Amino acid sequence: MESWLLPFLLALALLFRYSGAEVHYHDFVVQATPVRRLCKAHNIITVNGQFPGPTIEAKKGDTLVINVVNRARYNVTLHWHGVRQMRTAWADGPEFVTQCPIRPGGSYRYRFTIEGQEGTLWWHAHSSWLRATIYGALIIHPKDNSYPFTKPKREIPVLLGEWWDRNPINVVRQATRTGAAPNNSDAFTINGEPGDLYKCSRKDTTVIPVRAGETNLFRFINAALNAELFVAIAGHKMTVVGADASYTKPFTTSVLMLGPGQTTDVLVTMDQPVSRYYIAARAYASAQGVPFDNTTTTAILEYDCGSSEPVRVVQPAFPALPAYNDTRAASTFSAGIKSLSRVSVPGPVDENLFFTVGLGLFGCPAGKTCGGPNNTRFGASMNNVSFVLPDSYSILQAHYQGVPGVFTTDFPAVPPVQFDYTSQNISRSLWQPIKGTKVYKLKYGSVVQLVLQGTNIFAAENHPIHIHGYDFYILAEGFGNFNPAKDNAKFNLVDPPMRNTVGVPVNGWAVIRFVADNPGVWLMHCHLDVHITWGLAMAFLVDDGVGELQSLEAPPVDLPPC
Ligand code: C2O
Repeated sequence: MESWLLPFLLALALLFRYSGAEVHYHDFVVQATPVRRLCKAHNIITVNGQFPGPTIEAKKGDTLVINVVNRARYNVTLHWHGVRQMRTAWADGPEFVTQCPIRPGGSYRYRFTIEGQEGTLWWHAHSSWLRATIYGALIIHPKDNSYPFTKPKREIPVLLGEWWDRNPINVVRQATRTGAAPNNSDAFTINGEPGDLYKCSRKDTTVIPVRAGETNLFRFINAALNAELFVAIAGHKMTVVGADASYTKPFTTSVLMLGPGQTTDVLVTMDQPVSRYYIAARAYASAQGVPFDNTTTTAILEYDCGSSEPVRVVQPAFPALPAYNDTRAASTFSAGIKSLSRVSVPGPVDENLFFTVGLGLFGCPAGKTCGGPNNTRFGASMNNVSFVLPDSYSILQAHYQGVPGVFTTDFPAVPPVQFDYTSQNISRSLWQPIKGTKVYKLKYGSVVQLVLQGTNIFAAENHPIHIHGYDFYILAEGFGNFNPAKDNAKFNLVDPPMRNTVGVPVNGWAVIRFVADNPGVWLMHCHLDVHITWGLAMAFLVDDGVGELQSLEAPPVDLPPC
């Protein structure tokens, strides 16, 4: 071959690649919509009257422009969960973190590019508890169907949701007023439908038509507010091939566990007799003695519907699900998830961080009565700081414009007091966190290692910790207190999974690593909304690097005013 030909062809290929990127425009109208579930009509807040909301589809490299118009009576923002948002933190969405809310009557155009990600993500409201009804799938297809597995016949998004037989905004408002735990949900849903194990729900059951012999890709998304969920399909094994929009080494399992925020892509071959099979999901409730929604949602996988055999009369087979408190099943599943191929884990570590994550209790203000245990108010914290959102400014705007008094930069790198985090007997003097809007500053490009250590304050629980604007490698997970002397040796530096949400084991720890290569303000929080409400969050402030390509873009002109 001529010496110039190869570079020429490469350049041509690159050009073709870039010209292949598309811009997708969407109009999202946030509005009240009547919906009937569990024998009762509600006016829920939806996007475009759809529940779940519209599915967004794109290819890697494409740009999305979503014009959001707020016709509801609540403030709202939308978040594109798991999208890296390189340099576009303004489009990330968490209320009072990267933007002020879109007020009723207002609008905002979210504009961002999907860079280097492929698989299943999702979008949801990021104000109060609006995400109970405002969510949808965000599917990123590979270019030219270049899956690292045989192209599936069908691709089926399966959104797991959570339903209250009340206005969820009133549920959280009541809890915030009294300090008590918010009411548990009344149902879980699959693609918006509770399924026929609930009252009045025989018709409110999602039916998924499939054909015998085909292999289909199911894209599971846990969009529930407060519940981690086990999922299984009667009679069928699932081969996990992706999680949080990163491909994984295929492994076969009969049960999945997804924390809120997590997604799992599985291949399922329709290799069973022509019939009907339940897909069922119910809680993984890791906290001992804490009440939870113990109901089960179902959808029906229906073989060869429309064929001459009348399969509809067949009672679907029911899958085996782990017990509610089956922590072993949850950890076995998460231990099975590994990167598709060998990865190069970033190092050496510049920032060695250790954050506790857990609950707490605040004393009741003098002269008041509170609804928490022994006249307290529920709280939660990271490193003893219970996160408080600003209420008149966003942290990102305050940072960008140099507005003082909105946040402080003194979030501690390690717990202010070291103690036996997972002991059965933690001194009550350690149960009350302090409130604050504290961020932790990171230099552009620094390699961050973060130990997330669960605590047993009030009740230990598996916490699905999510970082905005980043994917991270999960190097190891374990139970008890993290001990570098023996646990560093357990790090998987070969094929650790890359995710945006890690389930920190109940009374245990997880170690994650990432490079701070995306400037902006990035919320990190427990994706159980009840815990964010209580303050289980913090934010990273990542500085600009050198030059435009390492710097946060200027804010869009229509960024909602504060
Ligand atoms: Cu699904 Cu703050 O995120």
